[in-house]
Amino acid sequence: MSETVEIFEMGPRDGLQNEKRQIPTEEKIALVDCLSRAGFKRIEVASFVSPKWVPQMADSGEVLAGITRAAGISYAALTPNMKGLERAMAAKADEVAIFGSASEGFSKANINATIAESLERFKPVAEAALAAGIKVRGYVSCVTDCPYDGKVDPAEVARVAAALDAMGCYEISLGDTIGQGTPDSIAAMLDAVLQVVPATRLAGHYHDTAGRALVNIEASLDKGVRVFDAAVGGLGGCPYAPGAKGNVATEAVAERLAALGYDTGLDMAVIAEAADMARAMRIER
Ligand code: HMG
Ligand code: MG
Repeated sequence: MSETVEIFEMGPRDGLQNEKRQIPTEEKIALVDCLSRAGFKRIEVASFVSPKWVPQMADSGEVLAGITRAAGISYAALTPNMKGLERAMAAKADEVAIFGSASEGFSKANINATIAESLERFKPVAEAALAAGIKVRGYVSCVTDCPYDGKVDPAEVARVAAALDAMGCYEISLGDTIGQGTPDSIAAMLDAVLQVVPATRLAGHYHDTAGRALVNIEASLDKGVRVFDAAVGGLGGCPYAPGAKGNVATEAVAERLAALGYDTGLDMAVIAEAADMARAMRIER
């Protein structure tokens, strides 16, 4: 039997959050319902951030209320602070994610806080979520390069990952937010992070700006990482990371993993259907 690698589907959140057209809630719900048939165990569908900062995600509560939840799938949401967690709990998100950065410039631009301030802000969020029986995932952005500060020290990534780990995050997702990582810089970053968090609790979250996400995934597989975030259709980007392109496309990751002999358990026909839907959403109608 081939070894399993999991793809955590990001399309409805990271894929759509940066789209200029305000996508109708029903279209988002239809995309999630399609993705629910593809075989994912986890789908990020919502983001309870400030609607002034990211207007596209303002209807996250309606999306969670409108989807048909399939058994065995965890529907995830971003929660930057206590207000976000309260909204996520009201909408019955199955799991939440706190998201920090390994670079000060991006931390300030994305969540209006220094790294230290953000970690203080996340502590009560993680505590309250865990007390309510909700799993918490952690993100570290800019794990190799920052759009504001340039190259990022792997030791800083390890420090932030360790802090999120200490707060009880069950998994830390390592974000190459602007897709400038290389197999060498990703490997060096992972070597540092693996000193503090085991590979079994890490995920790779690579944007494909420079077309290197797939080789960076291969470098991460070599280091033992077995979970990768991806977005159907390759949509997305972060509004606070200028020039950043989408997450690596789910269909491309699934194909590459299959070629390497890994099993993702995904139905490629449904993935293709969802990718078509996602790409159609960016077209003004
Ligand atoms: P702030 O302006 O410093 O917040 O933003 P504040 O606490 O001073 O509050 C200001 C106003 O926002 C108040 O309203 C709050 O109630 C409201 P007012 O009194 O002015 O009417 N507010 C909220 N409303 C709804 N939900 C909330 C919330 N929080 C405050 N949760 C904040 C700080 C963190 C909220 C803001 O900076 C923010 O929302 N940032 C999120 C930016 C974002 O979503 N970026 C994209 C996601 S991260 C990403 O894509 C990277 C990732 O994919 C990994 C990778 O690729 O690296 C995860
Ligand atoms: Mg991202």
